[in-house]
Amino acid sequence: MENKDIQVLINGQEFKAKEGELVIDIARRNGIFIPALCYEESLKPYGACRMCIVEIKNEGVKKKITTSCTLQAFDGLSIETDSEEVLKHRRMLLELYLAQAPNSEKIKELAQRYGVKKTRFKEKFRENDPLNNSCILCGLCVRVCNEIMGAGVIGFIGRGEKTRINTPFFEKSDLCLGCRACAEVCPTGAIKFSDEGNIRIANSWSNTSVELKKCKMCGKYFAPSKLDEKIDSIYYYRDKNNELRDLCPDCRRKVITKRINLITENEVERYAK
Ligand code: SF4
Ligand code: FES
Repeated sequence: MENKDIQVLINGQEFKAKEGELVIDIARRNGIFIPALCYEESLKPYGACRMCIVEIKNEGVKKKITTSCTLQAFDGLSIETDSEEVLKHRRMLLELYLAQAPNSEKIKELAQRYGVKKTRFKEKFRENDPLNNSCILCGLCVRVCNEIMGAGVIGFIGRGEKTRINTPFFEKSDLCLGCRACAEVCPTGAIKFSDEGNIRIANSWSNTSVELKKCKMCGKYFAPSKLDEKIDSIYYYRDKNNELRDLCPDCRRKVITKRINLITENEVERYAK
């Protein structure tokens, strides 16, 4: 059954939404910026970084400041994304993150946007940090690796102050698919990969390496073979003889465009007769 249509107020402006929809999604859909570090639409809301906080303005609601990535909309909900209270909390969080991830340019940029130029907390520099002192421990990379890619390569290591994200015992992993999903979702740009010839190296994960497939048309290395095998094992009905699967995205596009043009030309000829 489809959810009920409702109206919500964001910063005093009325918007249509569906009951139960996440407030962050409603805001984004309507072009309202709410900073978010650990939110990823394809995963269940988690509420780890608290950067997406908003203030609820409705009477009788106990929790006034809450995370918009976990807040489900109801009819008449009224929130403010940048109230004084929200900005106070958000600036404090940014100071904490500046100390936690002192090398992250993305955190610095966000801090600047909110007028936070430095932190009052002690910066945590770690020697030879595989995540370049840029990790805020939001856990997004771990969740994507586990819940979307089903690989489970990385996790939280250690406790308290010493908590880190990496492969078990900081060792190379046999499970890594080289998909780079962790690096794509990381909000602080902490995770590094590099491609060298036919090898992709997960620099942040103890230089774990995977082989890349070569494009049959242009010879460029483009996708990890292990990832291809994993996709085959899930989509077992995938056509293994389809020549397109051995082509890089650019060449694939060229071949498809050529085929479409050919079909169109044939059609034109057919109708011209
Ligand atoms: S590496 Fe990035 S995604 Fe992973 S926990 Fe750290 S900040 Fe979050
Ligand atoms: S984005 Fe909402 S808590 Fe992190």
